[in-house]
Amino acid sequence: MKFLFLLGFLFFPMTVHGVRMSRCAFARRIKELGLSGYHGVSLANWVCLAQWESDFNTAATNYNSWDRSTDYGIFQINSHYWCDDDKTPHATNGCGVRCSQLEETNLVKAVECAKQIVRQQGISAWVGWKNHCEGHNLSGYLEGCSL
Ligand SMILES: *[C@@H]1O[C@H](CO)[C@@H](O)[C@H](O)[C@H]1NC(C)=O
Repeated sequence: MKFLFLLGFLFFPMTVHGVRMSRCAFARRIKELGLSGYHGVSLANWVCLAQWESDFNTAATNYNSWDRSTDYGIFQINSHYWCDDDKTPHATNGCGVRCSQLEETNLVKAVECAKQIVRQQGISAWVGWKNHCEGHNLSGYLEGCSL
């Protein structure tokens, strides 16, 4: 019992707190939604980005105390610039969505908004991508996925 619990904890660390997609299910879904190669950004780059930003947790939220904004969802999209959560000061809602819509498991709104961000600011808008994906060999991020 203890052993099984430990195994579960090791292999599925986010399942308790959010809706964690598998890496390949995420890759398949965003490809379906037209993100592969979008604005010149390959599928492996998007998968790497989401791994480091949210670990594929569609419900991930992180509060930024310096500007009282929050990052939402699998792409950790920021409420200061891109979505409305009714509590972020001086927010602009560039994607014209409720921040909670960026946590929906069908990923439709999150992908739409990610497309707008990459068009306006480029992929380096994501710190997780800059720190962990830029200039790296990303072939492992699609390994084992039938795409
Ligand atoms: C990237 O990594 C894969 C697997 O580890 C390897 O086969 C490939 O040659 C690497 N590509 C480059 C450009 O280093």
